[in-house]
Amino acid sequence: MIDYQNILDTIALSCSTSKEKGKIANYIPELAKVESSKFGIHLVDSAMNNFSAGDADEHFSIQSISKVLSLAHAMSLVGEEIWKRVDVEPSGDPFNHLSLLEFENGIPRNPLINAGAIVISDILVSNLENPKTDFLNYVHMLTNDSSIVYDLDVAKSEKETGFRNYAAANLLKSYGNLNNDVETVLDFYFHQCSLAMSCAQLTKAFYIFMNKGVCQQGKTHLTIQQEKRINALMLTCGFYDEAGEFAFEVGLPGKSGVGGGIVALLPGKYCVATWSPGLNPKGNSKLGMEALEKLTTATEQSIF
Ligand code: DON
Repeated sequence: MIDYQNILDTIALSCSTSKEKGKIANYIPELAKVESSKFGIHLVDSAMNNFSAGDADEHFSIQSISKVLSLAHAMSLVGEEIWKRVDVEPSGDPFNHLSLLEFENGIPRNPLINAGAIVISDILVSNLENPKTDFLNYVHMLTNDSSIVYDLDVAKSEKETGFRNYAAANLLKSYGNLNNDVETVLDFYFHQCSLAMSCAQLTKAFYIFMNKGVCQQGKTHLTIQQEKRINALMLTCGFYDEAGEFAFEVGLPGKSGVGGGIVALLPGKYCVATWSPGLNPKGNSKLGMEALEKLTTATEQSIF
């Protein structure tokens, strides 16, 4: 039996004493207010045993991690229709790049880059009665935790500086790949990205991706095929132009956010979330990636 608690304690100690913590994102001004010394890690295993170290219960902005949850919700609402509007190939580009979108006639490379996630937001806006409330309720249902909220200051801050996302949405609209108006879709997208959650809450939400689509409360949210596809997308596209490096170092499907969070999972075994706000040059949490490399090396457990 693996002593996860001992491994997490060792990782948290080495990460919190690390001098090279990366650089906090400041292109969304509200994100720059977070303390760089924060570090949290939480792991839940398939039997729902929980292990924690550091600031694992502190809320932070989950940002792009939310793209996996919006994708899951859209897949369960409209199924295969999604793939007519979004591709499933890695982009090899940063999360907010637009050149391929123009080159490929308004079909985003995958649903985890910004342009793809904006198409998914459009699908949710079209298919939910009260999109922001209904999506939040979906997250409450997955986590069995109704205390989770949007951080309205972060959503406002991103809206005020979201020029590239406006550019992406307008480009999508010009290619006929956005059915609702730009303002409505981006309002939803900025709120979804502003969700404030802790590492512990993230592992609850992502439990469905390690447990064949079934949440901790026993309800089925995804088919096994959908769960397979989402994990494949996380592995190949979850870290943008660093997806290869994450697979190479960590060997798990996962998703990062510019708030410094990462969630990763080993199907059938565990789901783990880390938070350290400093990012590496590719925009992924520097210590989070190092922590997960240490975890899969110490446990000798990865998908490979
Ligand atoms: O659209 C944006 O720029 C942010 N809301 C999300 C970016 C993000 O987290 C990229 N992932 N690492």
